[in-house]
Amino acid sequence: MAGPSWDRYGEYLGLEKILTAQTPWSGTPGKADFAHEEMLFIVFHQTYELWFKQTLFELDDILARFSRPVLDDRDIQPIVARMGRITEILKILERQIDILETMTPQDFIDFRDSLKTASGFQSLQFRLIETRLGLKREDRMQFNHGSYDRDYADASRKAIHAAEEGPNLHDLIDSWLARTPFIADGDYTFWESYRAAVHVMLDEKEKTARQALDGDALGRELEAITRGRQKFENIFDTKDRVWRLSPRALQAALFITIYRTEPMLQGPATLLNLVMDIDSLLARWRYRHALMVQRMMGLSAGTGGSSGYSYLMQTLEKHRIFTDLFSLSTYLIPASARPPLPDSLSAKMGYRSGTGR
Ligand code: HEM
Repeated sequence: MAGPSWDRYGEYLGLEKILTAQTPWSGTPGKADFAHEEMLFIVFHQTYELWFKQTLFELDDILARFSRPVLDDRDIQPIVARMGRITEILKILERQIDILETMTPQDFIDFRDSLKTASGFQSLQFRLIETRLGLKREDRMQFNHGSYDRDYADASRKAIHAAEEGPNLHDLIDSWLARTPFIADGDYTFWESYRAAVHVMLDEKEKTARQALDGDALGRELEAITRGRQKFENIFDTKDRVWRLSPRALQAALFITIYRTEPMLQGPATLLNLVMDIDSLLARWRYRHALMVQRMMGLSAGTGGSSGYSYLMQTLEKHRIFTDLFSLSTYLIPASARPPLPDSLSAKMGYRSGTGR
């Protein structure tokens, strides 16, 4: 009788394909023209692409759940779990650069020319991740005076266009936030209550300053308070908007952040935190990658045709997606100034438990 098949493992994982997919372009391993470090370079990129694949897989499930007409509260837990997984993958992707940096710039230059025009810039999966997260075509850096997808083959360009037309996390989060009940409940409107609290807080600050200071010191403090008032008006202003999130989504995000300890808001608050984690981890990866590029090639242009380090550093700022959630922190007020929620609303948002007496 035949014993257990030891080929199952390799068959299941498709190892025959994966482990024969490293073909250096500098030469043949074992021959004089082969650059030893190129193997690391290839394996390194391949592992990235596998993690990108897993990221897209998680992201697609998140988008599908968010796309339902009503987001069931039971969806929050799997969404949070998948987002948590994406953040762990991104952390690994950033740390992995340590391994590549065991290759010296001199090692890299020994095979760089054999890459011809191949560059991570052409990673289709990376573009799909950015697009599904919500990076818009018009917000991207111009590349070689053309659009970023100009030189892709037709099938890849089609995949990018389909992703641009399909759902993205930013916009789905916007509409999920905008649907949040509670920010207007009966006579209560969060926005009015918050605005009133901000003015009371700043009036109080002004009163204290007038009592404690005079002359230049008072002038400076009053100027700071006026700037503070203008800063808050900026968020209340619905005409001249500087935000990408819709006004209602912005209000809901602030509401969730301020009252995050209310039982029903804990899940949404965790979710918003994870979205910010994803955004900053992606920015951290961009920064580490740009520093590594500067170390490897100085100010040389990239094999993909960009200015290299300088282009990459600009994407760091310009390709952020959820900056509104970060900017909201400008508008947080101390707990002492926070308006209490009306009892009726608090009761709706809490799970009451007690002795029954
Ligand atoms: C020695 C190692 C590396 C060098 C010197 C390098 C160099 C560059 C350069 C110069 C660019 C700008 C585009 C261009 O003109 O080519 C770029 C973009 C890019 N690289 Fe790398 N890279 C390296 C490793 C990696 C690795 C391991 C990955 C992982 C997949 C990667 C992914 C990317 C991506 C996704 C972009 C596009 C970034 C954007 O447009 O925002 N790179 N790389």
